[in-house]
Amino acid sequence: MGRTLWLLLLFWLAVVIMTGKADGINNNFTSGGLFWSTAKEEGDLLHKAEAQDDSTTSAGDGDFDGGFSSLDGMLQWAIGHSDPVKLKERAEDFQRLSPSELNQRQMDVKELMEKLKTPSDAQLMKIAIDDLKNSSLSLEDRYRALQELLALVEPIDNANDLNKLGGLLVVMEELSNPDPDIRTIAAWILGKASQNNPVVQEQVLELGALAKLMKMVKSSFAEEAIKALYAVSALIRNSLVGQELFYAETGSVMLQDILRNASIDIRLRMRVVSLVGDLAESQSEDIGKAEMPSLRDRILLKSVVDLTASTDLDLQEKALVAIKNLLQLKTTEALVFKNFCALDDALDKMRKFLHDLMADESRRDYVMDVENLRSEVEFIFHEKLEEVVIGSGFIYYCYYHFCGVPHSELMNQIFCHLQVQCHST
Ligand SMILES: *[C@@H]1O[C@H](CO)[C@@H](O)[C@H](O)[C@H]1NC(C)=O
Ligand SMILES: *[C@@H]1O[C@H](CO)[C@@H](O)[C@H](O)[C@H]1NC(C)=O
Ligand SMILES: *[C@@H]1O[C@H](CO)[C@@H](O)[C@H](O)[C@H]1NC(C)=O
Repeated sequence: MGRTLWLLLLFWLAVVIMTGKADGINNNFTSGGLFWSTAKEEGDLLHKAEAQDDSTTSAGDGDFDGGFSSLDGMLQWAIGHSDPVKLKERAEDFQRLSPSELNQRQMDVKELMEKLKTPSDAQLMKIAIDDLKNSSLSLEDRYRALQELLALVEPIDNANDLNKLGGLLVVMEELSNPDPDIRTIAAWILGKASQNNPVVQEQVLELGALAKLMKMVKSSFAEEAIKALYAVSALIRNSLVGQELFYAETGSVMLQDILRNASIDIRLRMRVVSLVGDLAESQSEDIGKAEMPSLRDRILLKSVVDLTASTDLDLQEKALVAIKNLLQLKTTEALVFKNFCALDDALDKMRKFLHDLMADESRRDYVMDVENLRSEVEFIFHEKLEEVVIGSGFIYYCYYHFCGVPHSELMNQIFCHLQVQCHST
C-alpha cells in the first residue's frame, strides 16, 4: 500500500513538473499553484500505477524492482512512465478547479503526506533498543530486534547514532546472553558498526567489549567464534589503541592457538591469518611508531608459514599475503624465517603444488595469481636474507680492515651503529 501511495504522489509531482516545463506556469508549491487531481483521476492513476507495477515486475526487466535508490530516481521513473500529452491535459483540467476545491485537495494531500511519513532510521533503532531493554521480551523478539539493528547500523550515520541512543550498551549486554545465536548476532552488530568507523571503534573499545569478544573467539560454536573474530578485527584494524589492548589481552597467543590447530573451522583460521596480515601491514605503514614485539614471535611466524602446506588455495593465498607483510617488518628476522620457519622449503613445496594444480584448466587463472604472489614472497625473502649477508659481510670487512689500525671518525660512527667493538689488544 505504501508503495502505491508513493506512486500516486509521484504522478502528481510528474504532472506539476511536466506542465511547469511546458507552459512556464508557476509551479510554486507554497503559493498554491500546485495542481491537484480529482478523486476519479486519482483512482485512474492508482490503477495505472498498479498495472505498470505488475507488468514491470512480472517482466522482471524493470528499473522498478521494488525499490528506488533515491527520491530523484523515483521521480525520473514516474516521469518516464507518464504520457506527456495526457499529463498536460490533466494539468489544464486542474486549473479550472475553484479556490475552495483547490483548498480541499490541498488538505487531502497533506493528510496523505502524513500517512506516507515513514519513521526515520533513528526512530526504528530506538524502538529496537527499547525492545532489547525489556527483560521480559521473548527470545524470538529479542533476536528480531537485533536483526533490525544489524540492518540499521550499516550506514555510517546510523552507526554513529547507535551510542547516542544507548544502543551500544544494550547490544554489548547481549554478548553475555545464554543463547549462542543472540551472542553471535550481537557480536556481528558491534563488528559491523565499527568497521571502518574510528568513532564507533573508539566507543566500543572504551566500553570494554574487546576482552569479551576475544573470549568469544574461543567458543566451540563456530558461528559465534567467526562473528566474534570479525568484531575483534573491525575494532583493532587501523586503531593503535585497539591493537595495544589486543596485545595486552594476549591477542597473539589467541592468534597462534587458532593458526596451529588444524581441527579449528577453516573459516576462522582464514580470518585469523588475514588479521595477522593486516596487523603487519598497519605496523609497516606506521613508520614512526615502534613495531609490536608480538608479530616477530617465532612461533607465530612459523604457524603462518605452516599454513602454506594447506591444500586450500584460498588459505594458502591469505598465508602468503600475511608472510609478505610480516617479511616487510623491520623487526622480523630473515634468519628466523629461514632456519626456524623453513620458509625456503615451504615456498618450494608450494611451487610444486601449484605447478601440479595448473593442469586443471578451470582454475588456472587463480592458481597463476597465487603463484605470482608466491614468487613475489620468495623475492622479498631473498632480498631480506641478502641484507643480512651483506650486513654481516660488511661488519667482517670493517673489523678485519680497521680494527687495530687508526681509522676515521666516520668508521667509528659506523662501528658504533653496527654495535661492533674491536677487541682491545
Ligand atoms: C514562490 O512563492 C513565494 C511566496 O509566495 C515567493 O516569494 C517566491 O518568489 C515564489 N517562487 C517562485 C519560483 O515563483
Ligand atoms: C515487554 O515485553 C513484553 C512481552 O513482549 C510485553 O508484554 C511488555 O508490554 C513489554 N514492556 C514494555 C515496557 O514495553
Ligand atoms: C583444537 O581445537 C579443538 C576444537 O576447537 C579443541 O577441542 C582442541 O582442544 C584444540 N587443540 C589444542 C591443542 O588447542
